[in-house]
Amino acid sequence: MKKFKLAIAGGGSTFTPGIVKSLMVKLKDFPLEEIRLYDLDGERQEKIAVIIKKVIADYTDELPLIVTTNPEIAFRDVDFVFAQMRVGKYKMRESDEKIPLKYGVVGQETCGPGGLAYGLRTIFPMVELIDLVEKYSNNAWIINYSNPAAIVAEGVRRLRPNSKVLNICDMPVAIMRNMSEILGCKQEDMTVNYFGLNHFGWFTNVFVNGEDRLPELREYIQQNGILHEKHMEVDIQHSEPSWIKTYTNAKPVMELFPEYIPNTYLQYYLLPDYIVEQQNKEYTRANEVIDGREKKLFDSINEYLQTGVMPEAFHVGVHGSFIVDLVISLAFDKRERYLVIVENNGAIAGLPDDAMVEVPAYITSQGPEPVRIGNVSLFYKALMEQQLASEKLLVEAAVEGSYDKALQAFTINKTVPSAFVAKKILDDMIEANEEYWPELKKQVYPSIKSVQKVR
Ligand code: NAD
Ligand code: G6P
Ligand code: MN
Repeated sequence: MKKFKLAIAGGGSTFTPGIVKSLMVKLKDFPLEEIRLYDLDGERQEKIAVIIKKVIADYTDELPLIVTTNPEIAFRDVDFVFAQMRVGKYKMRESDEKIPLKYGVVGQETCGPGGLAYGLRTIFPMVELIDLVEKYSNNAWIINYSNPAAIVAEGVRRLRPNSKVLNICDMPVAIMRNMSEILGCKQEDMTVNYFGLNHFGWFTNVFVNGEDRLPELREYIQQNGILHEKHMEVDIQHSEPSWIKTYTNAKPVMELFPEYIPNTYLQYYLLPDYIVEQQNKEYTRANEVIDGREKKLFDSINEYLQTGVMPEAFHVGVHGSFIVDLVISLAFDKRERYLVIVENNGAIAGLPDDAMVEVPAYITSQGPEPVRIGNVSLFYKALMEQQLASEKLLVEAAVEGSYDKALQAFTINKTVPSAFVAKKILDDMIEANEEYWPELKKQVYPSIKSVQKVR
């Protein structure tokens, strides 16, 4: 069987150990010749590599690990690249979350102004990464889950339309994990229908061995949210207080709109006032991650370096196993069905062909073959159109260097109550993102004088 060379861009990520562990567990199904870690922050990545080496050594002594900040060494002749960059790292995540909260607006890394800010930081580094991979690799597929995935996907569609990038998100699969616990069935016996944008969609059917169990889930979620007794055990990543609130908030969303099962991220758009009340302006999810997942991982690595004993440092979640399942389907043309982010091209009727949407698709070695969703009713269509416009305007703002379009993107976002508030948040964010954002210029409109001159 062919062995593949795989590079992980953003090798210093807190998720890398879990992903490599998932790769090791499935090494027979996805044979690897080499793993390469690539990051701009060499020091951070070297630390993470300590644990990665151990994870690999527990399974095999025949798999070299290359750790580098040199793109040529990272991508030369690779077959697959996992892209998981966090441009600006947790420091900027904290800023994305805290600036909107200062003005009473949802503070979230991928939704609302925070997501737009993170998008403006990530579009161009992502394009740069694609160019490097195209230059050095063996026509590699890039599996991208660098957030904000919706905006990154739109930026890539706009700027590198022919690149081999598959954009994905693990939220639906994490929700499905919980659904399978609630229904008492195996996740692999479940087939869902789903439509939406990334972090903005709905499950419309949940088939278990052919029977639609959505009605049962509807009643359950209206009482309990998307939580079950074993949640803390099976989904450790989403078990800290803010995530428990998020899974619980599916309850009011489902009570208000019982038709379909919402993606948990819809809480930010449908209940923004309620969410802001729940959020702590001084201590956001970024702080929770810095003090939790990141600290635990680095403390454990330090302890291992001192004592030679590795304490429990990380967990293997749905995140890693989803990515590995997906790359196996891509590598071996398995045509397995997963939810992915693709160009609409008629999948959701009534949305533009060039919208990046999240729908089920069969993953072949040529890429995803999306299923046709057909019509969706006005409520969902209108919500998606508004969010889509915000994301598209943001990408246009980046490409054109336009302050006006950025302000339009912020204003049109459903989490933002007024253009005054949009402007305050945008202006604060411009200052905070000085190192990262493209320059945004105000459009100069013709003055009365210049019009008179022409006459
Ligand atoms: P992290 O900060 O721990 O790791 C990100 C790494 O990316 C850092 O080591 C950083 O130095 C590196 N980086 C930043 N810019 C880079 C660039 N231009 N080139 C190469 N490396 C670069 O972050 P994390 O919390 O572990 O998350 C990693 C990424 O995965 C984030 O983008 C996060 O949003 C994303 N993520 C997405 C999903 C999804 O559903 N799509 C799920 C989980 C995580
Ligand atoms: C979910 C989402 C990801 C997001 C992650 C944040 O899995 O699908 O897009 O990156 O949550 O998790 P964190 O633990 O960093 O808040
Ligand atoms: Mn996601």
